[in-house]
Amino acid sequence: MQSQHSSNTSHSAASPVPSPATTTEVADPHDQIQYLKNELKKAQALAALGELTSTATHEFNNVLMTIINYARLGIRNRDDASRDKALSKILEASERAAKITATILAQAKNRSESMEPTDLAAIVSDSMVLLEREMRKYRIAVEIQLDPDAPKVLASGNQIQRVLLNLLINGRQSMSEGGTILIRVHPTADGKYVELVVRDSGSGIPRETLPHIFDAFYTTKDGPDESGKGGTGLGLAACKEIIDSHHGRIRVESTVGRGTAFIIRLPISKDAKSDG
Ligand SMILES: Nc1ncnc2c1ncn2[C@@H]1O[C@H](COP(=O)(O)OP(=O)(O)OP(=O)(O)O)[C@@H](O)[C@H]1O
Ligand SMILES: [Mg+2]
Repeated sequence: MQSQHSSNTSHSAASPVPSPATTTEVADPHDQIQYLKNELKKAQALAALGELTSTATHEFNNVLMTIINYARLGIRNRDDASRDKALSKILEASERAAKITATILAQAKNRSESMEPTDLAAIVSDSMVLLEREMRKYRIAVEIQLDPDAPKVLASGNQIQRVLLNLLINGRQSMSEGGTILIRVHPTADGKYVELVVRDSGSGIPRETLPHIFDAFYTTKDGPDESGKGGTGLGLAACKEIIDSHHGRIRVESTVGRGTAFIIRLPISKDAKSDG
């Protein structure tokens, strides 16, 4: 007969929760939950990095195509004007390629997970480097309004970029026929927060659905779209968790047939007020 006691198993290396070292007490369930939450955060960060890398790889490939095509053009056409044009296109595309890799490296290395004074405008432009082509492909015009007076916020740049990418992809997916996305960054009148608004001119969200959109696994999508995105129902749940952990706010305004706006508030970094 099999004995029931489970200690001393030989395959202990992968135990997900640290078991108490002695039998005298069971680890505090709160500690265990905290531990699991931290592990989940790490896993989510890795998954997000994977998603970002796949988006960036597509972008990068596209840029390489441009470089290859203009190099060919330059080789075929021996006149100065054609060559100058080819070289300047190649330079432009290469600079874009460098930006794309820099964005990934920043995520992977250390535009850290920790809270520090963070410039939302920089996060907006980094995110657009990754999504520009996708937006063009789906005939979505992106308008960006950055208030130059917006101070830095206290935030993890990586995590806020994840939030922004989720919102932009949701917006894009709500506009199957194309449309407009407006990204706006501006300080609030009370001087305590910076607001990041992502507004789309898409399908909108029905009133009865609105209370559920931040729930984990709530989705109205059949599955990933042709670019491999959407349909898990975790995007907004992750956004909410990230913004809550920043002591910020995220809310939504939506009208069916007219569009949706997600409005995020993040607290201004105290050090930011002095460094302009
Ligand atoms: N901008 C938007 N316009 C219209 N509906 C939206 C918008 N953003 C979210 N929704 C609705 O909220 C649901 C939940 O969004 P969420 O991002 O959490 O999940 P998802 O996009 O379905 O999947 P994924 O986890 O891959 O992002 C969506 O399925 C959609 O019905
Ligand atoms: Mg989504």
